[in-house]
This record gives sequence, structure tokens and C-alpha cells, in this order.
Amino acid sequence: VTVAQSTAEKYKCDLLILGMFAETKRLPAEYSAIDKSAGGVISELIKLGDFSGKANETLLLYPKGKIACKRILIVGFGDRDKFELNVLRQAAGTSAKLVEKTGSAKCGCALHLLLAKKFSAEQIAQAIAEGAITGRYAYQDYVSEADDKKKGIGKLQIVIVDNSASIVKKLRAGCNVGSIIGESQNHTRMIANKPGNEINPASLSREAQKLARKVGLKCQVFDERQLAKMKMNAIIAVGSGSANKPRLVVLTYQGNRSKKTIDAAVVGKAITFDSGGICIKPSAGMEAMKFDKSGGCAVLGIMSAVARLKLKLNVVGLIPSAENLPSQTSYRPGDIIRTYSGKTVEVQNTDAEGRMILSDALNYVAKKKPGAIIDMATLTGACVIALGNHHAGLFSNDEGLAKRLLEAGQRSGEKVWRLPCGEEYLEQMKSKIADLKNIGGREGGPCTAAAFLGEFVEGCPWAHIDIAGMADTNEEKPYRSVGATGFPVRMIVEYLRAISK
Ligand code: BES
Ligand code: ZN
Ligand code: ZN
Repeated sequence: VTVAQSTAEKYKCDLLILGMFAETKRLPAEYSAIDKSAGGVISELIKLGDFSGKANETLLLYPKGKIACKRILIVGFGDRDKFELNVLRQAAGTSAKLVEKTGSAKCGCALHLLLAKKFSAEQIAQAIAEGAITGRYAYQDYVSEADDKKKGIGKLQIVIVDNSASIVKKLRAGCNVGSIIGESQNHTRMIANKPGNEINPASLSREAQKLARKVGLKCQVFDERQLAKMKMNAIIAVGSGSANKPRLVVLTYQGNRSKKTIDAAVVGKAITFDSGGICIKPSAGMEAMKFDKSGGCAVLGIMSAVARLKLKLNVVGLIPSAENLPSQTSYRPGDIIRTYSGKTVEVQNTDAEGRMILSDALNYVAKKKPGAIIDMATLTGACVIALGNHHAGLFSNDEGLAKRLLEAGQRSGEKVWRLPCGEEYLEQMKSKIADLKNIGGREGGPCTAAAFLGEFVEGCPWAHIDIAGMADTNEEKPYRSVGATGFPVRMIVEYLRAISK
């Protein structure tokens, strides 16, 4: 996605993308020059009323006259008063997916023309770039007949065109930010989609090292021997059932060398496959548990974006990773684990493993006293029951942090809904024979899990995002493919951009 200075009607391309609101009864003034040089096809369309303008509805026009493009694609913006940047993100994604089918390689894009009054050019171009880049991604690594066009991102060119030099400058800045964020989110999806026979804790760590070299991050990988020496006994316990031994990845970005302190830490659960362990899960749907590494994959995308955006912040990313399998060497129900923090945990269910590995990683980073800790995890099935596939659960011990994350969710279109995790919930996690137990009963499952995590953050401002319902999807949307979604990369990068300003 790039930006060029030109009028839309003079821009030579295979296809020109325009937006239209629902209930459009008259040709918008912004389109009058385009319509005139296209032989009036747009005003004709409006007159005949053939296009509803519903969000993500599309229509292809074949213009007559002297316009420089071969085709015009109109995409619906929905109701004018319900419009938000996420509608634009989706419109861009819908368009990017569709133009491929027309064989158009170079598309002009003037989706911003109707939006100039409501949003800045930077915001608009960012949303277009994010939508087009994430909209076009699909996981095709193992599909033999998939051609290169479907496999790779990069052959389609979308060029946002505007005739004003000052607007072009702003569009370029937003486009650059949106491209980095979109590519980072796709990187997260690319790794999260990989199956358990390809991604295990060691190969995930190699992916982290590869990425770190590429974008300029420091990367430390602690293997099972180092983890044992450090007394990361919860990570060790969860990983003990698999021949694929656990790892802890620590990525460091120093964007503010004038201080040593850490502004924010992001921690992501990376269970490369969650069978449940000795408390084995039912077989139906178990294949989706390859997505149990999604939190950790999100950390990769976030850290990559932070480095490429050169944010003036110090950020660390932690990825505790293990494979949860049943075997002769697995941890068992009844085991008592002395975690890295020194607190002991009675294991009552080996399938509640995410909170175990997170407890060690959270406590390790909390001891460095970062300004904020944000963890993300496919932690509880109960969170999916509570919030469905539309919001992730947000839990926090800090009002300011919670508010900033809720706002970042709104801006990025990756929404979170706050749930409680206070004292009452912690009560449910107390064990009779250890400091804590790892399950708290069916009632308030996402909240008791969060309360457990909160015991390991040493009083730091902390937020936990339960992404169990958001990390992957079976539902193909016009702007989104099935599989890993890359949630909440956009949201967290948006939060970090805001605190860096
Ligand atoms: N990875 C699962 C949670 C999950 C379930 C994510 C469904 C996505 C979709 C987690 O490790 C788990 O198994 N949690 C248990 C906790 C229970 C034993 C307290 C659950 O949700 O059933
Ligand atoms: Zn589990
Ligand atoms: Zn899990």
C-alpha cells in the first residue's frame, strides 16, 4: 500500500476503489470530477438505486469516457452516523480481497475522499493500509494447488491517490504506520496458524530469534536447563509431559536510551499444543488447540511493530512456551509446584496450564518493575461463553491502564470488555495445602483465572486480556480469512503508540 499525488480520474490503474454510504441519493461532490470523466456511471448507479451502500457490499463498474482506470469498485460504508474507522478497515479489506479476482494488479484507492471531515488523513490512511494488508492474508502454506498469488502478500499494489501535496504527506505517514501494523499482525497470524508438528517451543523460539535479527530486537532464549536453574518450576511442570521441551523467550526493545527503566512489558501464553495433559480434553475440536500459542505469537507481532515504528519507549516481550501433553513424565493433578515467585500451587487440573506458565513469566518481569504489564492468553473456555467472539476479556488492577486499553480497543477495532478479578475471586483460588490452587470452580472461571495471575505481578500496574474467543475464527468474512486473527496486535500497538506520545 503506497500513496501517490494525482487526481483519482487521472490515475492510471487497473481498478479504482471508491466508498459510498448507505442511502446515497445524490452524487457526492467529492466524486463529481471522477463521475464526469467516467461518462456518468456513478451518478447513473445512484439514480437507478442499484447499490445499497451496506458495509462491505461491493459493485464493479466499467467506466466509459476519458478516466484513466479500467474498472471502478464501489464499496459500501454503511450508515453515515454509524461510521467508524473499523468500517473503513473492513472496506479496504473487502476491496483488497475482491480485486484479486478481477486480476487487477495495480489499484488506485480514493476511499478517503468522503471521510475528510470526520478523520485525519493519517488515521484514514492507517486504517486503509491495515485493512488491505490484513484483509488479503490467508494461510495457504500446505495447500498444494494454491498459486503464488494466493500464497504471498505483496503482488497487489494499492495506491492511495490525492491531488494535494500536503494531504499526500499526511496520507504517507499514516500509510507507513498502518502497513507496519498490518504486516506485524499478519506475521502473528502466519506463525499462530502453523500446526503443532511444525511449531513447538524450540521452533517458536527460533522464529523469535529470526524476527529479532530482522527488526533489531535483543532476543534471549532460556532452554529447559536454564529454566530449571532459574526455578521456573511452573513452566517446567507444564512442559514435562512432552519431548518438545519448554522455553522462555525474552525480547527487548530499547527505544529510549536515556533511561534504563521499562515502560511496558507484554507477556503472551504460548502453549504450542494444549491436549489438556493428564486431564485430557475431549477429541472434538482439539485440533483448534494449536491456537493456544496465540498470545505468544501476538507478542512477536507487537514487538516487531514497536521496533519498526521506532517508538520512543522501552518495551520487553516475554513468551513462556510449552507443549501440554499426557505421558509418563507429565505433571499430575495433586502435584504441588513451587513457582518462580516462591508461591506454591496445588495442581487440581493439568488443563489449567496457561496460568501456570504465565505465573513464572509474569513474576520474572514484575521483579524488573515495568511501568505496566500486559499479558494476553487464550486462557479460559468460559471467557468465550461469557463474551462470545466479539470482545476479549479485560482484567486489571489499575484504573488508568484499563481505561487506556479500552480506548485503544475502540481505536483499533479490536475490542475488549472489562470483567472483575478482585478479592472475592482470589478466595476461590486458595488451596488448603498450598498457597494457591490452579482452578477455582466453574463459577466466574475467567475472573478466578485472572485473580490467580494477579498474585504474581508484585503490585505492578497490570492488565490481562483473555483472548480465548478472539484468537482464531472458523467464520470466513469478506475482509478476513479463517484461522488465526492476530488479535490483539493492533490494539496493543495502538496503546503503546499512545503512551509514547
Ligand atoms: N487453552 C485452554 C482455554 C481455551 C478453551 C481456549 C477453548 C480457547 C478455546 C485452557 O488451557 C484451558 O484448557 N482452560 C480450562 C480451564 C479449566 C480447567 C479451569 C477451560 O477453559 O476449560
Ligand atoms: Zn488447557
Ligand atoms: Zn491452554
